[in-house]
Amino acid sequence: MISLANSIFFLILTLLCCQTCIINLPSVAAITSLKPGDKLNHSQVLDSEGGKFKLGFFSIPQTNKTYLGIWYAGDRRERKVWIANPNIPILNNSGLLTIDGTLKITSGGKTIVNIAPPLLTGSLVARLQDSGNFVVQDETRNTTLWQSFDYPTNCLLPGMKLGYNLTTKQNWTLTSWLSFSVPASGAFTLSLEVFGNAFQLVIRRRGKVYWTSGAWNNQGFPFLPLFHDSATIYQYNLNLVSDKDGMFLQFDATEGSFPSLALNSDGDILGGYRFTYTLFKDFCYGYESEDGCFSSQLPECRKDGDKFEQKSGDYIHTSSITTEFYDNASISIVDCMQKCWENCSCVGFTTASGNGTGCRIWNGNGDFRVYESGNAMQRYVLVSPKSSKGKTWIWIVISVAIFIALLVSGFICYIIMRRRKLQDEKRKEEAYIRELTAIDSFNTANLKEEDGREVQDLKIFSFGFILEATNNFSSEKMLGEGGFGPVYKGKFPDGREVAVKRLSRTSGQGLVEFKNELILIAKVQHTNLVRVLGCCIHRDERMLIYEYMPNKSLNFFLFDPARKELLDWQKRFAIIEGIAQGLLYLHKYSRMRVIHRDLKASNVLLDENMNPKIADFGLARIFKQNETEAVTGRVVGTYGYMAPEFAMEGTFSIKSDVFSFGVIILEIVSGRRNTSLQQIDRPLNLIGYAWDLWKEGRALELKDPALEDLCDTEQLLRVIHVGLLCVQEGAADRPTMSDVISMLGNGSMSLPIAKQPAFFTGRDEAESYSSTINTKECSVNDCSITAVEAR
Ligand SMILES: *[C@@H]1O[C@H](CO)[C@@H](O)[C@H](O)[C@H]1NC(C)=O
Ligand SMILES: *[C@@H]1O[C@H](CO)[C@@H](O)[C@H](O)[C@H]1NC(C)=O
Ligand SMILES: *[C@@H]1O[C@H](CO)[C@@H](O)[C@H](O)[C@H]1NC(C)=O
Ligand SMILES: *[C@@H]1O[C@H](CO)[C@@H](O)[C@H](O)[C@H]1NC(C)=O
Ligand SMILES: *[C@@H]1O[C@H](CO)[C@@H](O)[C@H](O)[C@H]1NC(C)=O
Ligand SMILES: *[C@@H]1O[C@H](CO)[C@@H](O)[C@H](O)[C@H]1NC(C)=O
Ligand SMILES: *[C@@H]1O[C@H](CO)[C@@H](O)[C@H](O)[C@H]1NC(C)=O
Ligand SMILES: *[C@@H]1O[C@H](CO)[C@@H](O)[C@H](O)[C@H]1NC(C)=O
Ligand SMILES: *[C@@H]1O[C@H](CO)[C@@H](O)[C@H](O)[C@H]1NC(C)=O
Repeated sequence: MISLANSIFFLILTLLCCQTCIINLPSVAAITSLKPGDKLNHSQVLDSEGGKFKLGFFSIPQTNKTYLGIWYAGDRRERKVWIANPNIPILNNSGLLTIDGTLKITSGGKTIVNIAPPLLTGSLVARLQDSGNFVVQDETRNTTLWQSFDYPTNCLLPGMKLGYNLTTKQNWTLTSWLSFSVPASGAFTLSLEVFGNAFQLVIRRRGKVYWTSGAWNNQGFPFLPLFHDSATIYQYNLNLVSDKDGMFLQFDATEGSFPSLALNSDGDILGGYRFTYTLFKDFCYGYESEDGCFSSQLPECRKDGDKFEQKSGDYIHTSSITTEFYDNASISIVDCMQKCWENCSCVGFTTASGNGTGCRIWNGNGDFRVYESGNAMQRYVLVSPKSSKGKTWIWIVISVAIFIALLVSGFICYIIMRRRKLQDEKRKEEAYIRELTAIDSFNTANLKEEDGREVQDLKIFSFGFILEATNNFSSEKMLGEGGFGPVYKGKFPDGREVAVKRLSRTSGQGLVEFKNELILIAKVQHTNLVRVLGCCIHRDERMLIYEYMPNKSLNFFLFDPARKELLDWQKRFAIIEGIAQGLLYLHKYSRMRVIHRDLKASNVLLDENMNPKIADFGLARIFKQNETEAVTGRVVGTYGYMAPEFAMEGTFSIKSDVFSFGVIILEIVSGRRNTSLQQIDRPLNLIGYAWDLWKEGRALELKDPALEDLCDTEQLLRVIHVGLLCVQEGAADRPTMSDVISMLGNGSMSLPIAKQPAFFTGRDEAESYSSTINTKECSVNDCSITAVEAR
């Protein structure tokens, strides 16, 4: 097993090794120098000492023409920085670079190109330096006999010179390629010259001055701003040297920067590492000299601003347009442009071949049709910006006018619409109010209680009136936040104080339904119910106006250590009775049979004589219609006061209100909130605590310590007993409100035995009742077990 594994391992290792060997083979056999007798063929490459550059033969795709060149190592596009034979390509791939007496390219035993002049025979060696300089040296004398840096093509690298030396008759000039794919000498040259009494870089097109850089200013040239822009990553550190023999411009490679300069076939100057950004790009027609373009005499028929634009499409062939071919491989696009520019009958041109050489020129008058399709031929079309400028101007004027017109009409429309909308709203409101007031039941005469007493008017107040009364619903006027919206204190101009309940906009109830509910609520009148004075409707907002209760609510007194002293037993008992009367009326004697559903201490308001008045009754009806069946999807109510069947199943009945009433009774007796039992070291709520005490016969301990005046303990026990009856688990077991009233009023009446109440472990009142699972887990039985354990 082991030997098998080993042999597999070695096999893999060998394979891997072989693969790397194969891949690395050329670099292992990397050639770094050429000596007499050595030959460099097409499949070989000469590497620079540090591996930054490579020298070798390369061919232009789709042709068999090959050239000897230097390119950046590791550059996918192999951008050439120097070419030995730009104008004399080798026509097949049998070229060889040799260094026998001179540096030359041979093919088939014949010399094709002499790269260098005849050199002295000696210990010659040709090397490619890491600067990109290809040099021939005499090793014994340690002298450089020839270097490629003295024969630049279209690119300047750090250390290369641009200029001339009259003594050595050297001329360092850049010459553009003929076209993007033909390295032969093109139309443009870039040279350093004394031009206009200043050192300037000059681009010539076919020998004629085409562009100048502006005068040298010891750092750079005005029309080549990027050249001396310290913000660019490529620091050229330009250096210009001149003496009587000549002059040259040079730049250095600095740390982390290896700039270059190149002249491309369109006459643009490129810069950066591997000439990736443009230092100067424009086409000079001769009428503009702003970017350094050289002014020249315009042909008669050409105007300022005329130019060629590249368009996809073609000329429509008619008799008035003729095509002319220049099938000349030594002219390129810029030459065609020049030809077209100078011939007044020319309207456009393109190249004649795929490699960017030759011309095809259109003369005469013809329409140019632009093709939208992507691969349509690119044409250079002469356009006259003067006329198009005028057109643009007209278009700008027209579009501005249209824009303004649209803006104005839009604004007018908006104003009209808004006014109409406001009018509509007003009309609607008015109509509604008219309708509301027209209803008989709103007339005092027809609104009568069963006992014949007259019912006060239900008024409709204007929104402005309410705003004024509540000081724009200022936060200082806010009395509290009820279940159905915030309540504000308001003061009417006649000095009457009211409470304004701003119903939250959740009801989605229509105005008619709201009106009907409101009429019903207005008809529900009892001394122990807060009186509704009127309403206010503003857009989709509804407000109810109640009589103001100066003594706030029951919980304001009951749960405050200081204020609870004001509530002696007499008063407390009266409050319990009052609430019971109010509830009884709601449940039994009012015509609408209201179930409050949110009865709690804070909904029991107290008037100046501490008489209780139940608030917020009937609101559940406004907020929920279609609830003839007693199951609701969403449970509304306050935790701690909710009957178990309501909290868990959403079923409610008058017995749910009885449960809440029972909780209030226990709270009034004990002076404690149902949900807070901080003083008692038990995990129980008030109901559970009361039940425990009751069962142990210690019910009197439930009494609020503040109740010093209490003498009638029997009455107290009876009240607690009634309270416990009200909070019984089963809704059917709980007494009705009329039972409650007779139980409270008749001291000799025997009461049924209270059964196990429904009680939950104490929880924060603020906690929302969403965790039904939790509550279901805590069934009544579980909780009672906990209570037993805690004892
Ligand atoms: C180039 O020269 C190398 C080494 O002399 C040789 O192995 C290779 O076959 C030659 N390639 C061609 C295309 O002549
Ligand atoms: C390139 O050379 C091959 C054979 O050497 C020849 O068949 C082909 O036609 C040549 N292609 C061109 C474009 O000259
Ligand atoms: C390549 O061209 C040269 C002349 O340019 C010729 O002498 C030589 O025979 C050619 N070689 C091949 C392989 O075609
Ligand atoms: C050759 O000359 C260069 C400077 O021209 C010098 O840096 C180098 O050390 C010399 N080499 C030898 C072997 O003398
Ligand atoms: C250098 O060569 C360019 C292009 O061939 C030419 O325009 C220029 O006059 C020459 N400069 C000198 C000083 O000979
Ligand atoms: C460019 O294309 C033309 C026409 O196809 C051809 O005659 C010419 O030789 C080509 N030039 C080069 C440098 O390949
Ligand atoms: C020109 O070449 C001579 C001889 O090598 C040299 O002395 C002179 O400094 C050079 N001048 C310039 C500007 O390159
Ligand atoms: C091609 O154009 C060059 C430069 O314009 C010119 O010298 C040459 O005579 C032209 N050749 C032909 C065949 O027209
Ligand atoms: C312009 O081109 C047309 C068409 O080729 C030719 O007839 C005419 O002589 C040319 N004009 C000039 C001034 O070269």
